[in-house]
Amino acid sequence: MIILGIESSCDDTALAIYTQDQGCVAHVIHSQVALHGLYGGVVPELASRDHLSKMAPLYRQCMAKAQLKPGDISAVAYTAGPGLIGALLVGSVFARSLAWAWNIPSIAVHHLEAHLLAPMLETEAPDFPFVALLVSGGHTMLIEVRNFGDYHLLGETLDDAAGEAFDKTAKCLGLPYPGGPALAALAMNGVPGRFQLPRPMLNRPGMEFSFSGLKTAVMLQWRKSDQSEQTKADIAYAFEDAVTETLAVKAQRALKATKCKNLVIAGGVGANKRLRARLQELMNREGGKLYYPRPEYCTDNAAMVAYCGFRHWQAGHKDTGPLQVRPRWDLFNS
Ligand code: KG4
Ligand code: ZN
Repeated sequence: MIILGIESSCDDTALAIYTQDQGCVAHVIHSQVALHGLYGGVVPELASRDHLSKMAPLYRQCMAKAQLKPGDISAVAYTAGPGLIGALLVGSVFARSLAWAWNIPSIAVHHLEAHLLAPMLETEAPDFPFVALLVSGGHTMLIEVRNFGDYHLLGETLDDAAGEAFDKTAKCLGLPYPGGPALAALAMNGVPGRFQLPRPMLNRPGMEFSFSGLKTAVMLQWRKSDQSEQTKADIAYAFEDAVTETLAVKAQRALKATKCKNLVIAGGVGANKRLRARLQELMNREGGKLYYPRPEYCTDNAAMVAYCGFRHWQAGHKDTGPLQVRPRWDLFNS
């Protein structure tokens, strides 16, 4: 069984090939960061056009890398949502056209489900059940993953997602887009304890998050500071500290509530080193195990889409109706 996976939900055009015997054998990606950097955020129409121009060349590159020809592919999996409608349409139309031309099944994949299952691409993969902390530019969620297809939402953000908070705070500090990695790099030089920022919703029970107040707190501290490079790094440290501590405390609550021993980190913010270290400490204390995909499988990629498609194929799922993209798609009630 060989699956071609296609991802185009936001600002990365990615293709990958997952085989039942060897796992992911090729994955290629084109990031639109430089294109959107000029505007400080993703411009949907530009994203769609760029996906359109990069899709076919990347497809050829991916097939060449895997040393495969069209007749070798058994099914095409693609992200059908959630995401930007134009961007989703490019990947979905490309995927379904290939499947139609090759007379093989196509499989619509939920982007968040693909993120959730990404750690299973690694040789040391978690067993069900596990708690997943899904932290990306668009989502911050704690999910109890009881089995493939059996997902239970424990808590999510009430306003900004963790990645969004990183990006907006970085913008306040004058850092380049996308802010998450830039802010994390700057925080490495920060002096611990010089600035104190709130830990949103930590005093309240439950597993909900709220990050929008943090960027305002950062802005206020930054405006009344000397605005030196060291101060910038110290504030970045304090911000990263506040976000990662909040995520770790809520993850601990989720483990307690579900009695799960395994914790999985998924999504772009999962590439954050301090978050990983913090969650590792938590799991050492709790006697559980932490799983996370390698950084390139944390951020948007097509290996996770191909793998998710593979799991659906195993479960007997494939497209039956006409093409449908779902810019808004609830993973828990679908
Ligand atoms: O999962 P992802 O690639 O895209 C979606 O949102 O679906 O996540 C992107 C987010 C961005 O907000 C980016 O700033 C953040 O992940 N990010 C990071 C790091 N690397 C990426 N945030 C904090 N630290 C990082 N090292
Ligand atoms: Zn994503």
